[in-house]
Amino acid sequence: MPIASTVPRSTIPRSSGPRSTSPSSAARAEQLIAASQRHTHDPFQEIEWDIPIDDSAYHLPPEMLALYATAPWEQMTETERIAYSRHETAAMFAAGIWFENALMQIVLRHLTEIDVTDPTHRYLLIEVADECRHSAMFGEYIRRAGTPSYRPDRPVIIDDTHSGRLLSYLLILAIEELLDFANRAAMRDDRVHLVARQISRLHVLEEARHVSFAKSYLAETWPTLDDEERQTVRGAAAVLVADVVSLSLNPDVFTHLGIDNGAEIALSNPHHRANVVNGLAKLTTFLTELGVIDDAEPWIELGLIRPLADEGR
Ligand SMILES: [Fe+2]
Ligand SMILES: [Fe+2]
Repeated sequence: MPIASTVPRSTIPRSSGPRSTSPSSAARAEQLIAASQRHTHDPFQEIEWDIPIDDSAYHLPPEMLALYATAPWEQMTETERIAYSRHETAAMFAAGIWFENALMQIVLRHLTEIDVTDPTHRYLLIEVADECRHSAMFGEYIRRAGTPSYRPDRPVIIDDTHSGRLLSYLLILAIEELLDFANRAAMRDDRVHLVARQISRLHVLEEARHVSFAKSYLAETWPTLDDEERQTVRGAAAVLVADVVSLSLNPDVFTHLGIDNGAEIALSNPHHRANVVNGLAKLTTFLTELGVIDDAEPWIELGLIRPLADEGR
């Protein structure tokens, strides 16, 4: 007998029932459904997987690599730098899989609360399908790149309260903006291996609508939070984004390549720190305009926003 059938019906918590999102969210979802009908890409048809993923070219622009311009970088030969770029790209795509798994879970839980007649229901299913293809694509790169299967060492978990749901979409946006920054730099750089460029371009094209949905959701939900919920979000947001940044740099890359103190050197590398700030700039500008960031100090302390004194340098 299935275990579920032994549970008395009255002990199963009743949900409050599916809800519809607001008219503006529904309209945005309709637009994004139309956009996904114009641009949905199958990585197993569109990426040239028969090109070997080797060290014939960089896999990220050198300036985007965490050790760029540091002492270990200066000691590497060109061949070693390219091999390091392949490992760092594999680790970045592995973090992509890790984060996409977390955000699919967030979206799937959100879907249980949305009425199926709401266009947002269909749009969020498209978003999950997009992320499934992206994770399969990142996995294919890693399987072909000859690197270890790097992965972050801890999960990202957020509760499903009203403020937790908003933080979840903030997390999604942070991950998407950071990856997008690296993808955009890679896709237009002809020093970068063709397969890495094709993956980056496909990801940028499809992520644009995810970013659009997350921003709409945040802009619409923030005003519905009470003061206590807003304080919860303000207190957690910078720490959450710093955690995403931290999980995006995998120390196992340096251990595997035998680079002593690689993670510490990368974390104090001004080029790397600038890439983090620049990669988050669209997010932090948006959150400041929205009012989620009303005090930049904690964000500056965590290295997520450039201090005012550095502006214009
Ligand atoms: Fe994705
Ligand atoms: Fe996404």
